[in-house]
Amino acid sequence: MHQREERGGEFMVSNLLGVSRLIFKWIPPPPDGKAFLVGGLVRDFLLSGYGPPDLRDVDICLSGDVLKWSERISKNLSCEVIFEPRFNTARFWVKHGRDIHVDIAMARTEVYESPGALPIVTPATLLEDLGRRDFSINAMAWPLEEVGDCQDRLIDPFGGREDIHSGVLRVLHRNSFRDDPTRMFRGFRLLSRFSFKWEEGTQSLLSEGVSQKSVLTISGTRIRKEFVRIFLEKEPVDVLKRIYLSGLMWSLFPKAIWSQTLEGSLLEVVWLVKMIFGGSVSSLLPLKWSLLREWCHGETFFYLPILKELPSEDLESGIRFFGLEGKVGSILKDVISEPSVSSGKEMNPGKFLRVISQHVVETGSRYGWLMPQSRMDDRKNLLSRLSSFSENILKSSFISGEDLLRMGIPGGKRVGEMLKSVDERVREGKITSREEALQWVRSEMLRT
Ligand code: CTP
Repeated sequence: MHQREERGGEFMVSNLLGVSRLIFKWIPPPPDGKAFLVGGLVRDFLLSGYGPPDLRDVDICLSGDVLKWSERISKNLSCEVIFEPRFNTARFWVKHGRDIHVDIAMARTEVYESPGALPIVTPATLLEDLGRRDFSINAMAWPLEEVGDCQDRLIDPFGGREDIHSGVLRVLHRNSFRDDPTRMFRGFRLLSRFSFKWEEGTQSLLSEGVSQKSVLTISGTRIRKEFVRIFLEKEPVDVLKRIYLSGLMWSLFPKAIWSQTLEGSLLEVVWLVKMIFGGSVSSLLPLKWSLLREWCHGETFFYLPILKELPSEDLESGIRFFGLEGKVGSILKDVISEPSVSSGKEMNPGKFLRVISQHVVETGSRYGWLMPQSRMDDRKNLLSRLSSFSENILKSSFISGEDLLRMGIPGGKRVGEMLKSVDERVREGKITSREEALQWVRSEMLRT
């Protein structure tokens, strides 16, 4: 695996040149300063000796005025560029077969006033910007220039290329994990994805971070973001296993141990999420149904076996740790304390699927999204129920509360009742399109 880079050297140069040219086909060059490709994309080009990496996210670092550049991009591309003045960053999407997300950030240093806090950001040179990053393999840059030659222009001040070659993950300075403990989780994700090992010094810093419980300095929201990224990996169970075996979970919840039961349940979750949702349903759902989106992209399913394995006295702090307070947390608590789940030694897959889908269905019914709850006896039945559940969610998005207000229905209870009635008709198959839904509302308004 790690000989890949040698074979990929030439390939990497021609491809990074190719991407640079491609980027300047999409967007105009910056009016001032220099731009560089940075982060995961450069790393992935070095790793992908046999084929181009997945071009989904492009990170660009600019030593110059981000606002001026984003105004120029927005004008030339006639697209929306979202500029964030507080961090001096801009982001937008370009179409190249599919949507590619481009992030531009001002070259900067970050000062952490206290461990785990969000950093204070100040303008800096490219070198300083690379020096504030997590691992050497993520601290390389490639200048975005319109050049004709095929020179290797990789900027690699911390030996990232060598570390890729040796298959090791190395932090750039002693305080890296203390400043930003999410890097420990990020590290395990990369370790698993690339089959890398920790570099020796980094391994000791990690052990220090584990024993000092530095993860407790970060907010639940940030932890949750890291875990979502883990769940989206190709092998999420492998990443979680590494985290548990390193003691990182154990340092927070002493009784959270890796077991075959946990592994089995998590593998079941991976299967469930892939089978039923295939990652596509969530992207179709309206944003306001955030609770359902969480269920649908499968995130919440992963927490169930993890939290169920905790002793009951740790459940509350587990929910807080993952930033799951609120509706999601209370549903998780309900499911976990369900007698058929809590009494079982194992998280029996069939039982697990049945209970969780019942809760999804119940919650959905309560909010008027779904068919009324009924018993589901076997896995096949459950699967078809869940897929029709997804279909119904999609159908019921024909109209929204805003539509009703715009049509002159006074706000408050009436809007909710009307939406519920529309959903009922959708489920009964009496309304099959937005037009029909609007028509039905108009006739109801005349009638009452
Ligand atoms: N980064 C960092 N410390 C963090 C998060 C990010 O130093 N806690 C830096 C790394 O240089 C990383 C870059 O910001 O490469 C972009 O972050 P992100 O998009 O999260 O990571 P990628 O490496 O691009 O993506 P992935 O992990 O999904 O491959």
